Amino acid sequence: MRTIMFLNAKGGCGKSTLATNLASHYARQGKSVAIADFDPQGSSIEWLKVRPDNAPKIHGVPAWEQGLRHVPRSADVVVIDVPAAVHGAPLTALVRRAQSIVIPVLPSPTDIRAAAHFIHHVLLMGRVERRETKLAVVANRVRENTALQNAAEGMFGRASVNTQVYHRLEKFLSHLKIPFLTTLRENPYYLVADEKGLGIFDLKPSHVARDLEQWQPLLKWLESRRSLPDAG
Ligand SMILES: Nc1ncnc2c1ncn2[C@@H]1O[C@H](COP(=O)(O)OP(=O)(O)OP(=O)(O)O)[C@@H](O)[C@H]1O
Ligand SMILES: [Mg+2]
Repeated sequence: MRTIMFLNAKGGCGKSTLATNLASHYARQGKSVAIADFDPQGSSIEWLKVRPDNAPKIHGVPAWEQGLRHVPRSADVVVIDVPAAVHGAPLTALVRRAQSIVIPVLPSPTDIRAAAHFIHHVLLMGRVERRETKLAVVANRVRENTALQNAAEGMFGRASVNTQVYHRLEKFLSHLKIPFLTTLRENPYYLVADEKGLGIFDLKPSHVARDLEQWQPLLKWLESRRSLPDAG
């Protein structure tokens, strides 16, 4: 059973959004998917409640109550959503649940600094140190259409502007050999999908073509051995 967690102590960085989108992607592929929600606010479970009957089925596990006990044995993938501001022993206990952890980071300097501290902290956990849990980072909610960005892109090019914001984080991560997988843009279609209990993978591809493209490196990493615990 594949276990994938979205984790960051910072609130609002996209943990639940990325969890529900990944779950909907795997469900669309015909996999048996469970989404385990450790957040008592239950955003992922609420999302499932409005999911249309004709959308590929996803099993919801209110994990804040009973952990992963009620994950169906038949599940191919368990996507784990967690609350913000988890520290100390509860954080260690959560980290233990996942083979792969994806850390979403918003593009403000404060968020980036906080993420670097958080990653440093998680890296020191035994399970991560022993490479029994693998980490990766994605940038989320990166604005693409501001006037400032357009002007900067005119001067430096799009890829370069997006990477400049994260440059320090990228350097820090490469030093620690943690992959910085991709940059997901801010797009209201994430909200459109979310309101209907869907993911962007369930929307008309022409509306979200660029977003689907931006997800590819993350999906590829999750399919690769690099995201799985080291053998032995
Ligand atoms: N790429 C994106 N484009 C547009 N909106 C986004 C994107 N990612 C997340 N959002 C929106 O940002 C808000 C916060 O996202 P989300 O609830 O997923 O964060 P979270 O990390 O789960 O927050 P919490 O820590 O409170 O659980 C939501 O309204 C969500 O719809
Ligand atoms: Mg959440």
